[in-house]
Amino acid sequence: MRLGLIGYPLSHTLSPAMHTAALRTLGLGGSYVALETPGETLAQRVEEVRREYRGVNVTVPHKEAVMPYLDSLSPEARSIGAVNTIVNHAGRLEGHNTDAPGFLKGLEEAGIEYRGAKVLILGAGGAARAIAWALKQAGAQVRVANRTLQRAAQLQREFGLGEVTDDEWVLAGMARSSDLIVNTTTVGLKDPASTPLRAEWFPEKGTVVDIVYDPLETRLLREARAAGLKTLDGLPMLVWQGALAFELWTGVRPPIGVMYQAAQETLG
Ligand code: ATR
Repeated sequence: MRLGLIGYPLSHTLSPAMHTAALRTLGLGGSYVALETPGETLAQRVEEVRREYRGVNVTVPHKEAVMPYLDSLSPEARSIGAVNTIVNHAGRLEGHNTDAPGFLKGLEEAGIEYRGAKVLILGAGGAARAIAWALKQAGAQVRVANRTLQRAAQLQREFGLGEVTDDEWVLAGMARSSDLIVNTTTVGLKDPASTPLRAEWFPEKGTVVDIVYDPLETRLLREARAAGLKTLDGLPMLVWQGALAFELWTGVRPPIGVMYQAAQETLG
């Protein structure tokens, strides 16, 4: 079974290690390889997938651009407007989004309640879209703060979210009144010394999730833990989106512990 990942660049990906370990453990044979795909070669790559692969994951920057090349979309992928998994049914390519259910699986595994929770999402990019949609579908009250208000307002309109803001003081009030805060911005990723939310604005109790996984320990999570809040890093979402994709391709539930271990070893 040939599997892979299309994106660009792919130098830091953990997916080949996770999926290869799962294939080996289950004795399924096959392979999962990184298929570096610059934008101008995307159409060609999709045709190669159609001929030779059972399925692929799709990552930055192609999650939206790949959609016109596919034959059908799952309801999730259509609503979110992004595809992270393609399943090849004998030449017919089906687009899925496992980022959204993968995020919720990670919360469930950690015992974090989200149905009916008051949520604040920091950021309004591609990752925020999947997470906002998933939490809203599950019955959470979802609010969004983003540097560029227009992107947050777009999510609000599309998904019927609660309040959105680009204002620091409104953000402070939203944060203090949240049960669950999710960082989807690249702030702690680009600069480990920076944080997307001041510690003075944390709620008294609740959970802070950072979907960054490199580094796993961001300043946001360190400060949240110091403030007595529950925290969750980016590894569960990464592993669960992969596990759900693996199940779509193989029909078999993968060994989740093996995938966690492979991802962690690759992170070093
Ligand atoms: P992804 O697909 O991973 O979510 P993205 O679409 O580039 O990536 O989104 C990155 C998010 O981080 C956006 O919400 C972005 O804010 P803008 O919409 O205003 O660009 C946010 N972000 C990135 N750098 C930031 C910074 N220095 N301060 C605040 N927000 C930042």
